[in-house]
Amino acid sequence: MSKFDLTGQINGVPFDRLFLNASGVHCQSTTELDELLQDEFVGGAVTKSATLEKRAGNPAPRYYELANGSINSMGLPNNGFDYYIQYVLQFHAKPTILSVAGLSADDDIQLLNQIQDSDYQGLTELNLSCPNVIGKPQMAYDFEGTQALLQSVFSFFKKPLGVKLPPYFDLVHFDQITAILNQFPLTHVNSINSIGNGLWVDVASESVVIKPKGGFGGLGGKMVLPTALANVRALRQRLNDSIKVIGTGGVQTGADVFAHILCGAELVSIGTQLQAEGIGVYHRLTNELERIMADKGYTALADFRGKLNTI
Ligand code: SIN
Repeated sequence: MSKFDLTGQINGVPFDRLFLNASGVHCQSTTELDELLQDEFVGGAVTKSATLEKRAGNPAPRYYELANGSINSMGLPNNGFDYYIQYVLQFHAKPTILSVAGLSADDDIQLLNQIQDSDYQGLTELNLSCPNVIGKPQMAYDFEGTQALLQSVFSFFKKPLGVKLPPYFDLVHFDQITAILNQFPLTHVNSINSIGNGLWVDVASESVVIKPKGGFGGLGGKMVLPTALANVRALRQRLNDSIKVIGTGGVQTGADVFAHILCGAELVSIGTQLQAEGIGVYHRLTNELERIMADKGYTALADFRGKLNTI
C-alpha cells in the first residue's frame, strides 16, 4: 500500500491509482485488459475504441517507434462493440472505461444507444479524435458537428459519458470547444489523442516509415508532451469543475506525470511508453512520482493538482 494518496475520481467513480493506459495500447484483447487491471500500479483500464463491427485496421507497417516518440496509423483495429461491452459488463476490481468510436456520427449514436439500452452503468468515452481512419475526418475539429452530435447524444443518453479529444493549437479553439462541451453533462475529457497526420522520413531508405495514408500518422510519445500539457492546462482552465481531465500524451517519467497533474489532470494515461516498456512502466512511474512528491513534501495528488505557477 502506498503511503501517498494517488487517487482520482470521475463522476464519483474512485480510481485508487491515477494511472490508465491510453486507449489503443495494451487493450485490444481481454488478456491485455486483464493484465492491466491486475497490475497493482494501474488504477483502471480503457478499452481499445470499439466500432460497431470488428475491424482489422490499416495495413502494416502501421506503428513505428521514433527516437523521441512514435508514429502510428492503426486505423482502429478492434474486436467490435459486442466484445468490449461484454468485457466491461463483467465484474472487475478496478474501474474500466468503455471507449467507442463510430466511423460516422450515425455510428456514434448507434453505439451509444446500445450502451444506453444495456445493463452497463460504468464510464463510457466517445472517441471524437481518431486521425487514422482513411477518408474520415476527426469530428472534434468540426465544432458545429460536435455540438450537433452531443445535442443528439444527450437527448437520449443518460449514463456517464466523456469524450476523447484531439490536440488543439490555438487558444481560440480552446474557447470554442469548451463553450460547447460545457453545455453538456460530460463526466470527463481525455486529452490528447495523437497529433494527427505527422510524417517521418527515413533518410537511408528515402522512404516513409508506415504504410497507410502514404506515411502520414498520429504522433505520440515524448515529442508531444508540451502539446499534451498545454491541452490539459487550457481545458482545465475553461471546463466546468464537474468535467474531469484525463491527461494523455508524452509521459516518459515521473516528472512528466507530475507536470500533467500540475496542469490539472485527474488521471494520467500512458501510451507510447507502455508500448515500448511494457506493463512495468507503471511501477517505475509510481516510484519516480512518489520520489518527487516526497522531496517536495507532498502526500497527495490533491496537494498540487492544477496548481501550476505562472510567472
Ligand atoms: C488508431 O487506431 O488509429 C488509433 C486510435 C485513435 O487514434 O483514436
